[in-house]
Amino acid sequence: MRIDVITIFPEYLTPLELSLIGKARREGLVDLHVHDLRQWTHDRHRTVDDTPLGGGAGMVMKPEPWAAAFSGVREAGHAELGEDVEPLIIFPNPAGAPFAQATAQEWSQCEWLVFACGRYEGIDERVYEHLADVGCEVALASLGDYVLNGGEVAVLAITEAVVRLVPGVVGNAESLVEESHSEGLLEYPLYTRPASWTDPAGVVREAPPILLSGDHGKIAAWRREQSLARTAERRPDLLAAGDGDTQSA
Ligand code: ADE
Repeated sequence: MRIDVITIFPEYLTPLELSLIGKARREGLVDLHVHDLRQWTHDRHRTVDDTPLGGGAGMVMKPEPWAAAFSGVREAGHAELGEDVEPLIIFPNPAGAPFAQATAQEWSQCEWLVFACGRYEGIDERVYEHLADVGCEVALASLGDYVLNGGEVAVLAITEAVVRLVPGVVGNAESLVEESHSEGLLEYPLYTRPASWTDPAGVVREAPPILLSGDHGKIAAWRREQSLARTAERRPDLLAAGDGDTQSA
């Protein structure tokens, strides 16, 4: 998978060199490029924003650097991947569709993602019109119903959620199957040794005996029950929106 990130704060993306994603990059599973939007400006101040037409607070990102950036990044990607491969261009945006595990699954199958990090009040609307005109597939993705200062933090989160689903990135693929949200439910409670633990207050806390039974069928049923109960308590909205699989269990 190729990923390009366009931002005015390239340093914000340095965590993508660490941990699982860093390893995936070193192993060649993910080819990630971070670009400074200002390289596509031509004035002395490397200006990327201006006041909103019609008045109002804050600043709006100018269309010219963005159009030039998409053109430059597409050219570089085409040179690597071939002319027939097109990116999905993702704008992190609080007004976008909520980003969820199903979206992460879908995007993990893409050959090429381009993230465009807006700042200030947002990007001039004509950039989206231009991308649609030149046949680019565009998605607006929101991390949640709150406002961040820009798209960079959202890119860190979305990239991590997507890249860990790329085949080969997580060593034990089974661990992806049972985690929260993978089946529309929250994950069941987890325990490890010691099976009997005395906490710092002197309380002896036993792991559920069924986990020591060796009966894998019963353990799976117990875990599913726990998942359902936990989801009903913490996220009833997931059950209400659930598919037949979740409802029938
Ligand atoms: N940019 C600013 N706020 C955001 C949010 N909630 N999600 C994604 N991108 C954003």
